[in-house]
Amino acid sequence: TEPSLIRNFSIIAHIDHGKSTLADRMLGLTGVVTEREMRAQYLDRMDIERERGITIKSQAVRMPWQVGEKAYALNMIDTPGHVDFTYEVSRSLAACEGAVLLVDASQGIEAQTLANLYLALEDDLTIIPVLNKIDLPGAMPEKHAEELASLIGCQPEDCLKVSGKTGEGVAALLDEIVRQVPPPTGDPAAPTRAMIFDSVYDTYRGVVTYVRVVDGSLTARQRLKMMSSATTHELLELGVISPEPTPTSGLGAGEVGYLITGVKDVRQSRVGDTVTSADKPAAEALAGYRDPMPMVYSGLYPIEGTDFPVLRDALDKLRLNDASLTYEPETSAALGSGFRCGFLGLLHLEIIRERLEREFDLALISTAPNVEYHVVTEDGTELDVHNPSEFPDGKLKEVLEPVVAATILTPSDFVGPVMELCQDRRGTMKNMQYLSADRVELHYTLPLAEIVYDFFDQLKSRTRGYASLDYHLDGLAPADLVKVDILLNGEQVDAFSAIVHKDAAYNYGTTMAQKLRKLIPRQQFEVPIQAAIGTRVIARENIRALRKDMLAKCYGGDITRKRKLLEKQKAGKKRMKAIGRVEVPQEAFIAALSSE
Ligand code: GTP
Repeated sequence: TEPSLIRNFSIIAHIDHGKSTLADRMLGLTGVVTEREMRAQYLDRMDIERERGITIKSQAVRMPWQVGEKAYALNMIDTPGHVDFTYEVSRSLAACEGAVLLVDASQGIEAQTLANLYLALEDDLTIIPVLNKIDLPGAMPEKHAEELASLIGCQPEDCLKVSGKTGEGVAALLDEIVRQVPPPTGDPAAPTRAMIFDSVYDTYRGVVTYVRVVDGSLTARQRLKMMSSATTHELLELGVISPEPTPTSGLGAGEVGYLITGVKDVRQSRVGDTVTSADKPAAEALAGYRDPMPMVYSGLYPIEGTDFPVLRDALDKLRLNDASLTYEPETSAALGSGFRCGFLGLLHLEIIRERLEREFDLALISTAPNVEYHVVTEDGTELDVHNPSEFPDGKLKEVLEPVVAATILTPSDFVGPVMELCQDRRGTMKNMQYLSADRVELHYTLPLAEIVYDFFDQLKSRTRGYASLDYHLDGLAPADLVKVDILLNGEQVDAFSAIVHKDAAYNYGTTMAQKLRKLIPRQQFEVPIQAAIGTRVIARENIRALRKDMLAKCYGGDITRKRKLLEKQKAGKKRMKAIGRVEVPQEAFIAALSSE
């Protein structure tokens, strides 16, 4: 297809504003998916996505669309909506010239509508404002068209009105995409340069790489070169997704498709890299992507110690299409060998963990998530701490924690409860403005550690689901933080150390000590459980000793009963970890680390 007949676009929206439904409708209208084949949310391929109803990985689909005499090829690049996945959004947008900004006509503009719009504007994309769900009785398209128009600087009449559910207005939207989105620029005659914007590992086919050709072209059966590693590969298959992978003989400038090279090592097809021709390589690579920064860290440990290499291999594979996932081996006295992993947020952590368990058959323990701290000791040494057990003991000159700039949109009725919540979480208000008489935009600086856990849930429950949140990292700030250690019979249990605000230390210590007292079985001797900051004990519980006559009772009577008891103890011991003299069943660690 020649560039003038190609349109590359994304749909961007706040979560649940109907992006996937609209995408499905477009697939149906363009005939890419027939009524019979249509299953809900065709583009959400991964099981987890379908179950949770959210889009995680981006997908690129090609759709034919006729306007007048001309047959166009529309490449729709789907983007995820959750705040954890902003990085994937910006990656997808870099492969497009236009974006459909979709807003639920019953809800109006939300925090991620703004965040995604800004990302699209950074990439100089043409924005098509669209109000969705106009079939809803509560839809107020006129009112929200005005808000949307004043946000992006157009006329309210320029906002299209559609329903992804009924299909109303969707054909007109496709026409408008052809009319408004510029065709891709790029030099078809220049040496080939294609940007890798996604890469997935497929058990049957090896690594499948998604590319957007910027200059030149790719032809089936040519030799390719990956510019960052200078490795060359035979091209085995080239194609487009429409909606299943369909081989083609070539991809021209501006086109989006996939390629398979038979590469087995996932690290050789890195997202953000430039693909060129091995015979006539381009001189310079395309500007790559900025690597996203992990926000939360957690230790992942296989329950079966022998699964460690499987876990490493699985992380290598997931990392291929998720540059935001970082991991380094670490050892814990309590949990054995595992990895310290960095994630974009808690949802990201949960999804990676679930994929590891489902796709790679791993059973895992994850330690309590924490953010990264910057510590300056008395003698001026500076260090970054990703794991509470690395937090230095003794006096510290300064502890810095990451803070975020948060934007919260809420109906004005809930301003009070929102401010209260932010105050509880050590937030500082920057400013507040009314978007309209009944909608308020609040700006806060908040410690990242305070918002990664249940902040979003709390915000939703205090505003009956009406408030929305977006945030980005905004540097470091000093804070009064301490490390709380948990000691079992005087031995520190590394997996339970936590870095918490001074005011929350006592609460963390007592809760953990009480939890463990209930989870750890009695031993032959009394076992103290202590929570301590340095050498200062802040909480204590005792596990009482087993009564001496437990076995004695069996004497003189039933000998088989005694043997059974001993065998059972032996089997149980297999899954015990010794912390000093104390035997702790693995279940106790799992239960204590699970957030109830
Ligand atoms: P993420 O992929 O998680 O970002 O969500 P999404 O934006 O793709 O939303 P999705 O398409 O999953 O739709 C969210 C909800 O809105 C679903 O319950 C849809 O059935 C509903 N919905 C989507 N479009 C329409 C519409 O035009 N009208 C009505 N009435 N409901 C819609």
